Amino acid sequence: APIQAPDLRNCNPPDLPDTAPDVDCCLTYRAGTGAVDFELPAASSPLRVRRAAHLLDKECVAKYEEAVALMKELPDDDPRSFAQQWRVHCAYCDGAYDQVGFPDLQIQIHNCWLFYPWHRFYLYSHERILGKLIGDDRFALPFWNWDAPGGMSLPAIYANMSSPLYDERRNPAHQPPFTLDLNYNGTDQTIPRAQQIDQNLRIMYRQPDPGAGTIENVPHNPVHFWSGDPRQPNGEDMGNFYSAARDPLFFAHHGNVDRMWSVWSGLRPANAGGFTDPDWLDATFLFYDEEVRLGLVRVRDCLDTAALRYAYQDVALPWVGAKP
Ligand code: C2O
Repeated sequence: APIQAPDLRNCNPPDLPDTAPDVDCCLTYRAGTGAVDFELPAASSPLRVRRAAHLLDKECVAKYEEAVALMKELPDDDPRSFAQQWRVHCAYCDGAYDQVGFPDLQIQIHNCWLFYPWHRFYLYSHERILGKLIGDDRFALPFWNWDAPGGMSLPAIYANMSSPLYDERRNPAHQPPFTLDLNYNGTDQTIPRAQQIDQNLRIMYRQPDPGAGTIENVPHNPVHFWSGDPRQPNGEDMGNFYSAARDPLFFAHHGNVDRMWSVWSGLRPANAGGFTDPDWLDATFLFYDEEVRLGLVRVRDCLDTAALRYAYQDVALPWVGAKP
């Protein structure tokens, strides 16, 4: 049977690593606000075009910074606040909620086929909340274009210490222009940038199909690990599920993961529809939207990004020809 959305009234303390600080990942639940079925945005609403973070113009950076600053200023118990937004990720990955009717089964959206759709809806609601806060219905999140040479460093907009996009819990050795290693295992390779880029492109080439186990393992997990701070007990923030979304960089990383899902659907038309199993198509989750309505979303509603009214900037795919 498909996974059902959690009952937000029943939240358990999350399973965190022993050395993690005591954090609460339970979400604000506004009693009396039942969930409403998700509806696609109007087909006539403007298309939000997500752009590569390293190519973003000043005006777009300023808008994004303003939106995140406003989100961080909202009271912690507001479902749209940054404090709640990062907890959504923690709640769905660290066992805060059981599956309805199965108290021994915790909801976990990693390492399984819910990975792509869950993160797609997460970014979708996050993006629309940010846009609403600045009154811009074209606002779009940037993506970390780590599959192309120009994007193979931490995007500079996140490294500005006076920006709301900054997070101090990151690996200080991996500041731009240090080259990203898409297969990072905890040790930096001492090879020239050109060689690292070449390796990265070959890694991308070997990831032709989305699905549990491929892109989620590499490069999704290594990029988290590479970004997090090795001085923290669990690689916080990006290096651990519970804390990853405390870093705004998370949303750029997942923008590219989501973009890869779209790109692959296009490269292989046979992939376009994804799985047809109703256990996947009818799996449901809950997300607060920009109007602070609790929306019940189903996987089948997120398969078409045009219907969700967003798209990705068309940038080159240099790895498509990078045979290992
Ligand atoms: Cu939900 Cu990149 O992890």
